[in-house]
Amino acid sequence: MKVTIVGAGHVGLVTGACLAEVGNDVICVDNDKQKIEQIDAGVMPIYEPGLPELVGKNMKKGALRVTTSMEEGVNHALVIFIAVGTPPKTDGEADLSYIEMVAREVALHMDGYRVISEKSTVPVKTGEWVDRTIRLNNRHKVEFDVVSNPEFLREGAAIFDFMYPDRIVVGSGSDRAAEIMRELYQPIIERNFPGCNVLLDEVGPVPLLVTDVKSAELIKHASNSFLATKISFINAVANVCELSGADITLVAKGIGLDHRIGKSFLHAGAGYGGSCFPKDVAAFKKISGDLGYDFRLLEEVSRINQAQRELVVSKIKKTLWIVREKTIGVLGLSFKPDTDDMREAPAVDVIKALQAEGAKIKAYDPQAIPEAEELLQGVEFCKDAYEVACDADTLLFMTEWEEFRTLDLARVKEAMNYPIILDARNMLDPNAVRAQGFEYVGMGRH
Ligand SMILES: NC(=O)c1ccc[n+]([C@@H]2O[C@H](COP(=O)([O-])OP(=O)(O)OC[C@H]3O[C@@H](n4cnc5c(N)ncnc54)[C@H](O)[C@@H]3O)[C@@H](O)[C@H]2O)c1
Repeated sequence: MKVTIVGAGHVGLVTGACLAEVGNDVICVDNDKQKIEQIDAGVMPIYEPGLPELVGKNMKKGALRVTTSMEEGVNHALVIFIAVGTPPKTDGEADLSYIEMVAREVALHMDGYRVISEKSTVPVKTGEWVDRTIRLNNRHKVEFDVVSNPEFLREGAAIFDFMYPDRIVVGSGSDRAAEIMRELYQPIIERNFPGCNVLLDEVGPVPLLVTDVKSAELIKHASNSFLATKISFINAVANVCELSGADITLVAKGIGLDHRIGKSFLHAGAGYGGSCFPKDVAAFKKISGDLGYDFRLLEEVSRINQAQRELVVSKIKKTLWIVREKTIGVLGLSFKPDTDDMREAPAVDVIKALQAEGAKIKAYDPQAIPEAEELLQGVEFCKDAYEVACDADTLLFMTEWEEFRTLDLARVKEAMNYPIILDARNMLDPNAVRAQGFEYVGMGRH
């Protein structure tokens, strides 16, 4: 099938590469000329494991092309995905101006029937606006359908998540468009693409949930808000553990073994960040309010999340007493491991708050330093964890990168001023750390 993806970012480029990989003829359009030139030259604009290989392979085959021309993209495809950003405004509302701009441009160039698929995360009822915008600008008066096809991929595991999703959601008011979307996803649904490493007979097809457009839009906001709620819930429980002397890792295990709850997203720490949860929780709260429902639960979810960042700072103060002129070594800057994404990363708030207290910051991240340099001033960026540890008064673990789990702690201790570790992600074994002679501070555990 001929497919165009507008927006070649984290979601758009992965979607484009994966749909090309399963047999489609794909063009990715982006209005960032530099980004398009980079991708064309084989340089990925983001760090995502497996992406350079997948993009390279499919560009070489001619199954994937990139361009800045909307006209080329719109003329090419039967299905046009909108995968541009939907960033938050100051009041939490999603800024849909990029979506509107793309809808207008698509409408101007359409010369035949098209399915326009919302891939970006948007508030409920955006589909109605996209539909109206296209109708108003539909120069050639062609038929079209707007569908919602929310994306659930996780950065760092994006290709796997796209190829082996838990479900595919398509919101459509038209049988014709729903059928086209089903056909597009057929190889993924039926586990029938080159290199697929599961068997249909063993795991069954990927569930395809076809709904109306508004329900599909709401599924995405509700899913992310639910996951964020789980994280804030476990962080709140971690605070009670800390006050009572219980251990959150054991409590989370005990909770998670209940199959109605499940084990995932019960990991206490510095809270969630990234480009999705903070903005989607805020946008879901805002749209609910605009519709007449005061979703106060979500306000509390955000408040608890913000408080976790402050808690990390107060734990450092509790450990060091005077923070001024002390050197804090920060390990991990990205909002989670296996990505260079620094959007809403807890490390940024924590570092800024420590700097405001007069602390000196040394930091290392395996991938995110170039991104971090744009957001943080006065930080000494280091080439590895051991350089960070050198003369540090405390070592603060902010992101669970795998390489931090296997550090030579004896070497780290030797390099540090004081042997203090603040594990803001509960990623280390407290006993093993203490056995090396460190003072260990975790989140809701002893
Ligand atoms: N990042 C994730 O993990 C993730 C997961 C699921 C859903 N989403 C949602 O997907 C959407 C995109 O997120 P992202 O992380 O890929 O964003 P991103 O910022 O990485 O990419 C967006 C791209 O759109 C391009 N763009 C903006 N306006 C354009 C226009 N008029 N024409 C062409 N290109 C344009 C930008 O240049 C950019 O490259 C958001 O709504 C987000 O909430 C993101």
